[in-house]
Amino acid sequence: MDSLHVQDDLKHVLYTKEQIQDRVKGLAEEIDADYAGRDVLLVGVLKGAVMVMADLSRALQSHVTMDWMAVSSYGSGTQSSGVVRILKDLETDLMGKHVLIVEDIIDSGLTLSWLKANLISRGPASVEICTLLRKPDAAKVEIDVKYVGFEIPSEFVVGYGLDFAEKYRNLDFIGTLAPHVYS
Ligand code: XMP
Ligand code: MG
Repeated sequence: MDSLHVQDDLKHVLYTKEQIQDRVKGLAEEIDADYAGRDVLLVGVLKGAVMVMADLSRALQSHVTMDWMAVSSYGSGTQSSGVVRILKDLETDLMGKHVLIVEDIIDSGLTLSWLKANLISRGPASVEICTLLRKPDAAKVEIDVKYVGFEIPSEFVVGYGLDFAEKYRNLDFIGTLAPHVYS
């Protein structure tokens, strides 16, 4: 879905379809270079990372395997607490694998720091993180994120996988919602 169809719901467009595709291609080039000659397992975090996983994986010029996890972090309202529950686990044994977690957005960083520790405990050769978006609060948590698409302000964003009440995931761009939508 494009911005014309949701004009009334939006405050502004943050990144267009073209800007996202360009940046994802850039990330893929970095990843191809860094992992040359090694087998990579991409771990997508459902549901938000579906779009970035689909585009990133197709922009890579090397073989990768893919698996998915779904987690929910307990918290009040929009604040995540760092207490995470696995809703869907991986089907892949991580022993000896080079794992690259693919995320849509890092906000507080609590979800990902828990997830990274959890995956490391399964004996992989390495675990790195690729996120399309990162908010400034992520700086508060000690978490090493190797690949970041865009650093964004602390505003709630939707589109390209990101939802508000399960809506807007299928926008082909990323935007911020008009206040009347969530208030
Ligand atoms: P933490 O705070 O643990 O949480 O890094 C990251 C998760 O919070 C959700 N999140 C958002 N979802 N628009 C969204 O649609 C946003 O602006 C936003 N900020 C955080 C998201 O599920 C992410 O995985
Ligand atoms: Mg997510």
